[in-house]
Amino acid sequence: MDQPRMNPHRDDQQAMMPLITHLPKVELHLHIEGSLEPELMFHMAERNAVALKYASADAVREAYHFDNLESFLEIYYEACGVLRHERDFYDLTTAYLQRAHAQHVVHTELFFDPQTHTERGVPFATVISGIRRALVEGERTYGITSRLIMCFLRHLSAEAALDTLAQALPYREWITAVGLDSYEVGHPPSLFTEVFARARQHGFLTVAHAGEEGPAEYIWQALNLLHVSRIDHGVRCLDDDALVHELVSRQVPLTVCPLSNVKLGVFARLEEHTLRRMLQRGLCVTVNSDDPAYFGGYISENFVAAQQALHLTAPEIYQLTRNAIQAAFLPEAEKQALLDKAAVYQQQVVP
Ligand code: HPA
Ligand code: ZN
Repeated sequence: MDQPRMNPHRDDQQAMMPLITHLPKVELHLHIEGSLEPELMFHMAERNAVALKYASADAVREAYHFDNLESFLEIYYEACGVLRHERDFYDLTTAYLQRAHAQHVVHTELFFDPQTHTERGVPFATVISGIRRALVEGERTYGITSRLIMCFLRHLSAEAALDTLAQALPYREWITAVGLDSYEVGHPPSLFTEVFARARQHGFLTVAHAGEEGPAEYIWQALNLLHVSRIDHGVRCLDDDALVHELVSRQVPLTVCPLSNVKLGVFARLEEHTLRRMLQRGLCVTVNSDDPAYFGGYISENFVAAQQALHLTAPEIYQLTRNAIQAAFLPEAEKQALLDKAAVYQQQVVP
């Protein structure tokens, strides 16, 4: 006998959950400092004798209501103050990898913001050594492969970015790409043309946050002046048809972060998110978590929430995963192995 259906999408959603959970996933937009959970923040504050202005981890969570990128970044930079020693960066990265492994992440490309730490007197070596040690161990323990992307803080000067690039050169082999993050509006990519050119001369790939809060014009600048391989966020591209055409024809990947976009008011509700429309227009869109400790979830929660709000189909979920594999900074053979792995899983789960 047929059961009455309360919600026409309920069956879809129930079928989609195990699919999303077990699908091998690739994450391309994750700020490691944004994975600092309040409990770990408190633990580090205590062991490093850093005063926090919150009474408990729960009180920290309650403070996580943001109006926009700026109001988030104020809290995010302040929280980074508990990160002092190599061990802190190691513990932070290890905690992220444990969660990533639990969500079947097989490859991850992490952003780190050295200037957030060097500005406070923490040496560049301390930051990168802790992160790197955890990544090497994470590959051994969990089989998760990774790449590191060093972001320049765009609210600081181009000279400061050049200085940071110089500090990174002894660690050239550990860093795959440079990126651009922090307060977007009023800090266009064009200001960083020279430092990105130098980075490319040293063999770094490039990416940039563009079109999160800032205009489509910043995406053009990231493409034409910074010669990026991917755009981080990029949701504002839909304001400009010629830009969409360019991104589609070149298949420039966009690392979209659905829960982040709602938490920071880029979209009022997840149901209004343009992720599905972007996919349907042929853009190479991927799903990512951005700052999971602040925005309500890691990569699986982003997939599940987006699927439910936008009624993404199983083929669309696979397309998002295939896009992320294609967009990864991995050799072609490794990408093909991941594509094969995802395809096997697809055949097993969806008849
Ligand atoms: N946008 C820009 N800069 C950032 C973010 C973000 O979501 N997270 C950390 N730095
Ligand atoms: Zn980001």
